[in-house]
Amino acid sequence: MTSTRLNRIQGSATLAIAKLASEIAREGKDVITLSLGEPDFTTPKHICKSAMQSLRRGDTHYTPSAGIPELIEAVAKKFHTDNGIDVTSDQILITAGAKQAVFVVIQAVLDEGDEAILLDPAWVTYDACIKYAGARTVWAPTDRDFMPPDLGEHVTDKTKLIIINSPGNPTGAVFDRKYLEEIADLAIDNDITVLSDEIYEKIIYDKTHFSIGSFDGMHDRVITINGFSKSYAMTGWRLGYMAAPADITGAALKLQSHSVSHATSFVQHAGITALCSDQSSVDEMVTEFRARRDILVDGLTSIGFNCRKPDGAFYVFLNVSECGGGDAVAERLLREAYIAVTPGSAFGPGSADYIRISYAASRERIYDAMDRIRDTIA
Ligand SMILES: Cc1ncc(COP(=O)(O)O)c(C=O)c1O
Repeated sequence: MTSTRLNRIQGSATLAIAKLASEIAREGKDVITLSLGEPDFTTPKHICKSAMQSLRRGDTHYTPSAGIPELIEAVAKKFHTDNGIDVTSDQILITAGAKQAVFVVIQAVLDEGDEAILLDPAWVTYDACIKYAGARTVWAPTDRDFMPPDLGEHVTDKTKLIIINSPGNPTGAVFDRKYLEEIADLAIDNDITVLSDEIYEKIIYDKTHFSIGSFDGMHDRVITINGFSKSYAMTGWRLGYMAAPADITGAALKLQSHSVSHATSFVQHAGITALCSDQSSVDEMVTEFRARRDILVDGLTSIGFNCRKPDGAFYVFLNVSECGGGDAVAERLLREAYIAVTPGSAFGPGSADYIRISYAASRERIYDAMDRIRDTIA
């Protein structure tokens, strides 16, 4: 009874784990949730206040589908200052979360039969969106440091899109400039569009973030996506944005205008405040994430795992092949230790040896989790 297009894709694996974990929690078990891609901090007060002021002002009506002009202007300024990307207002689309930008823009770019290159592992939603567009995902395994391989061997005359995500979910890897330059050269030589999902841009520790959209010759072939969920702990607000060549933004806008219409009115006003006001709350959050990352990595190392320190985002992608593989370990941790993590198989066909551990949880919970992991699988 359902469409073949939707039968091609599965529900989100990360949300499925969250559901199972909450069922076990309802049985009265003390579940430690290390499976979520969401900061556990509250949204900074000045952003909440801005939304409340907006509501009081009466910003409760439809807005332009592409977003309110003031937020589009703030986003253009942000792209210029932070990313070295210069775009005009018709190139920007404000969306209901970065996830919606990913969805509409992939539908805007890909046709039936096209190919899109995805690095393995990759965030779960890209593959689903590619399939929904009727296109094919070509998986390119990353190297042992989760850096991009030579993508040339994966390019065919059907390749239309390369998707990158640095800092990345699920690995926390931050791509060095030389890798991005190689991808840029390949895209230019083969006339391929690049989608760069930069939602973890600000959650970065010792490395520098580079936007491939700022590289020479890339302005007219890069879609840059970002959002408020991670940097400003605004997951529930549903606010994101993208910049792309005007024809791509226009096509994505068509789909947005016939689906959600636009991002929520007063949330867009709060977004201006988030981008244009003091950024110290972001720095404070990143300092705490760094401390948690160190606790988690040191803990896993002391248990005996070979665990690299990720340079960004808030995930550790851990090889558990010696303990039975990602699916078995994730299930054992949930059923025996009441710890929810995500099996690596959710993120790509070559990632089944791994689990993703999110350290968007308090230090105490991470210490507790280390004790339970030691007792269960070490
Ligand atoms: C890589 C990546 N891109 C996009 C998103 C979606 O973010 P948003 O909450 O803005 O839709 C996520 C959320 O987990 C993510 O990990």
